[in-house]
Amino acid sequence: MLFNKKMTVIGALALLVLAGIAAASPPKGIYKNLKVLPKNISAEDLDKVMDSWKASLGVRCSFCHAPSKTEARKMDYASDEKPEKDIARKMYLMTGKINKKYFDYNAKDTAVKAPVTCMTCHHGKEHPESTLPAKK
Ligand code: HEC
Ligand code: HEC
Repeated sequence: MLFNKKMTVIGALALLVLAGIAAASPPKGIYKNLKVLPKNISAEDLDKVMDSWKASLGVRCSFCHAPSKTEARKMDYASDEKPEKDIARKMYLMTGKINKKYFDYNAKDTAVKAPVTCMTCHHGKEHPESTLPAKK
């Protein structure tokens, strides 16, 4: 009887310790190489971001992402081989800065759409300047 009670107490303590460890460790993301997006972003949200970048620039995923070196007809999304990917990171940070500094936009307020997006400049083109009328 006494033995059983002790085991219950020890068991409960062990559970508390485990729960504490789970709460203290940072959320583990499913992606390997995120440097500007939230590391624990959901697959659904990452897809939304990627789709919007693709549409804003009028490109395919392979514009920024390199093919896999080991598997045929697969992409290596975590690879930083293509310089376009790192340019996109800088563009993302720049866009965030413009919104925060000049539009008082709070990125956490998801009810409000960001005033400036990739589309604002790119309009479906890789190079925004290519959408301007030619100089006379
Ligand atoms: C304009 C460039 C660009 C386009 C187009 C683009 N991506 Fe990305 N993608 C990025 C960047 C930049 C990152 C890394 C973000 C970071 O560092 O936080 C990324 C990260 C990812 C990751 C996470 C990889 C990892 O494990 O770290 C996946 C998956 C991904 N992209 C899939 C896609 C898919 C699918 C498409 C097409 C629908 C796409 N991307 C289109 C720039 C792009
Ligand atoms: C304020 C305007 C502006 C915004 C906003 C903007 N861009 Fe750009 N982007 C440019 C300009 C201008 C260039 C061309 C730069 C050059 O020629 O050196 C460019 C170039 C790029 C390139 C390189 C294209 C190439 O052919 O090498 C990528 C990739 C890119 N932008 C991604 C993005 C993404 C992704 C976003 C949104 C997160 C974004 N940009 C938001 C102005 C903008």
